[in-house]
Amino acid sequence: MNITPLTANIGAYVDGVELSNLTDDEFEALYQAYLCYKVLFFHNQEMTPEQHMSVAKRFGLLEPVHPFFPHLDDQEQVVVIETSRGNPPSQSYWHTDLTWQKIPCRCSILHAQQCPDKGGDTIWTSMEAVWLSLTSDEQNMLKELTATHALHAFEGSRYDSVAEGGQSYVAKVSNHYPPVIHPLVVRHPETGNATVYVNEQFTRKINQLPERESENLLKKLYERARLPDFQVRFSWQVGSVAIWDNISTQHFAVTDYGDNPRRLHRVTVRGKPLESYSL
Ligand code: SIN
Repeated sequence: MNITPLTANIGAYVDGVELSNLTDDEFEALYQAYLCYKVLFFHNQEMTPEQHMSVAKRFGLLEPVHPFFPHLDDQEQVVVIETSRGNPPSQSYWHTDLTWQKIPCRCSILHAQQCPDKGGDTIWTSMEAVWLSLTSDEQNMLKELTATHALHAFEGSRYDSVAEGGQSYVAKVSNHYPPVIHPLVVRHPETGNATVYVNEQFTRKINQLPERESENLLKKLYERARLPDFQVRFSWQVGSVAIWDNISTQHFAVTDYGDNPRRLHRVTVRGKPLESYSL
């Protein structure tokens, strides 16, 4: 197995391994690489949805079924992210998966089933690098803050529809998932590294600041997360896989492929209890 780092801050390409057939030693080496590089990329991986879930289960317990993302009929924990003719992607936002949940999501694994000829890349950024780029005064200020996260961003997206009574389906489902509060800076439970834990898709506000100041600070952190120096970009092929640490990263799906078919399977892994992330 070869592990080739792609940038100084984030990302490594792995070859010489079959994810569907990992030995314990290979998994251990991959796990250490995942903690170190935050996102691992693979090509040419043949994996059935069952095998995809088995790989994910080696990282931890699977997340419950997503409240409104489409999934495979017989494997409900395999989310299907799909663009088809006449059904282009909705607006894309930088995000960390599932931060609207009380327990942060530990890791996500995407497996490409169908790819456009051109475009459709995904970009990841290191929120640890964002943290390290701040001055110690800024870090001390952020450590005192918490942010509210909520499942609101999908309203009006292609995952939404009109439910009974004319209400948005996403809004209706979201009623079962009240907003949650997370520290603005969390400590990664395994590496011990501090990371900024906000994202423009699910973070609504910083709780201790007036609205305008909260917006300005979040904007500053989001702009920092967009610096190319902190990012890695991956071009998908059929059979490609990305496995990422969902605590210390954000990602962004580039929607530059119109309605050319693109289909990915995603399995997500539940994180540790919230207390494990305290600074
Ligand atoms: C995701 O946000 O999990 C999917 C990213 C993508 O479609 O590239």
